[in-house]
Amino acid sequence: MKVTINVDDCIGCGICVKISPKGYEINDQMKAQVLDMNAPGIKEGADDCPVGAILVEGEAMPAAQAPAQAEEILVKPDLSEYKGVMVFAEQRGGDLMKVTLELLGRGRGLADELGVPLSVALLGHGVDGLAPTLIAGGADKVYVIDDPRLKDYNTSSYAKAMIELIRAEKPEIVLYGATHNGRDLAPRIAKRLDTGLTADCTELSIETETRMLLQTRPAFGGNIMATIMCPDNRPQMSTVRPGIMKVLEPDQNRKGETIIFDAKLTDADVLTRIIEIIKERKVVANLEDAKIIVSGGRGVGGADGFKTIQALADILNAEVGGSRVAVEKGWISKDHQVGQTGKSVRPNLYIACGISGSIQHRAGMQNSECIVAINKDPSAQIFTVADIGLVGDLFDVIPALIEELKAAGIGQ
Ligand code: F3S
Repeated sequence: MKVTINVDDCIGCGICVKISPKGYEINDQMKAQVLDMNAPGIKEGADDCPVGAILVEGEAMPAAQAPAQAEEILVKPDLSEYKGVMVFAEQRGGDLMKVTLELLGRGRGLADELGVPLSVALLGHGVDGLAPTLIAGGADKVYVIDDPRLKDYNTSSYAKAMIELIRAEKPEIVLYGATHNGRDLAPRIAKRLDTGLTADCTELSIETETRMLLQTRPAFGGNIMATIMCPDNRPQMSTVRPGIMKVLEPDQNRKGETIIFDAKLTDADVLTRIIEIIKERKVVANLEDAKIIVSGGRGVGGADGFKTIQALADILNAEVGGSRVAVEKGWISKDHQVGQTGKSVRPNLYIACGISGSIQHRAGMQNSECIVAINKDPSAQIFTVADIGLVGDLFDVIPALIEELKAAGIGQ
């Protein structure tokens, strides 16, 4: 067995030393170092490192075995032990985040294709009342981990609880929302479980022959879509962009099981204490929940041009979106940005005005129910995903459209 400390990651918390005082010590630089790789508790110390700074390769070797045999006894995970699809349920203050239902929607499809159950990991304190919603949303089983230490999101305690659950239940796939919390949590779990993680997926499917998860995401600045697999380790883990996957129609008759899971948390698993949560008062564009979005791109020509976009949005009671170019040029603020590096949206109607339709923009809006594109350039990529294409100058088309809408009594 080889034990290595990543000193760049180690925060000198000393948990490893507490667990294995003969295995680890803290040096003058306040970093952990290995004293004896075969000391009792060496692996448990690595497992409990809150930042995953300790890498353990292989299993402990019986004293009689020669070092040359070490490679042969490296244990590969038995992939056949892993079954089922699991979704990490994100809740804040007892309110379920919409992305959880989106993940359940896609997770249900994956689980049905594999013929395995779909479970949810619901962490928090006093949140078991959310279980019926999760079952109605597609789950077969809800694992509730209830602990006061999980009341608010906390990296170390959430990671520990999820790791305990995954080790016990062995799901083959685990899905997280690519939210602030999901992006913080999933990489730590992947590191501690020594498995892979594909971040920011926009598509998930199953390869029929191998039953492996195909995880698709934009790559190289959004110029290609890359499909990534995790063939040698389990679980296969992905974070998924909010707003991409479809929520299932809630089925109140769906039967499911609620299981209480004890993650054996202790106070040592909580490294930060939340004293107070102060909500920032900020009016931000609510693109993810909008039914109609009118978006502007390079063709809008400047901040002034967005007044025309806003005029159409006002009449349709819509939100205003923008392409990456429009945001980078400072014509509209970042919270309006649609696309791979902005928000993923799926409104009933998306009107793209003066947007060329790069792959990174399309990745964030192509799941909209109806797409209308207005662009001077008939070869613009946006027309490849549009249901209705209008070739023309947006400054001619939009005022004419507004007139027509007014004449039809819309927005009056
Ligand atoms: Fe460092 Fe992790 Fe030990 S942070 S001190 S290696 S528990």
